[in-house]
Amino acid sequence: MPKITWSELLSVGNEEIDNQHKKWIEIFNTSYDKMMCDNYSLLSSIGVDALKQMMEYAQMHFEFEEKYMQQINYPALLEHKLQHDLFKLQLEKINQNFDNGILKLNSEIMKLIENWLIGHIQKEDQKYKIFITNFAKK
Ligand SMILES: [Fe+2]
Repeated sequence: MPKITWSELLSVGNEEIDNQHKKWIEIFNTSYDKMMCDNYSLLSSIGVDALKQMMEYAQMHFEFEEKYMQQINYPALLEHKLQHDLFKLQLEKINQNFDNGILKLNSEIMKLIENWLIGHIQKEDQKYKIFITNFAKK
């Protein structure tokens, strides 16, 4: 059973961004499943791979979303971008720790990503949905 399930409650009113969120959730769920099933000795490499995939996807997705917010003249773009940048920094920091041989628990990393992903889509991303629904020129 997937750890996170996308539902209409997470929709931000933009099909492409919704699809990207679904893809991101799928990446998360696949990594999570692997961690639950695979051989114990593979766990750290699964963690590294999951993190790398997350970082790559985050980069692409954030750029797309920030461009979209710019197009709709979203007034809180800078605050929103700051949230993205802080999350990218968090991921980079964990990645550096991996490179330095300081392994963080996979479960800790997955929890952090899960909380951020859901929290961000539910709270921050919903704000631009509200904006475009109520204030943006159609
Ligand atoms: Fe966002």
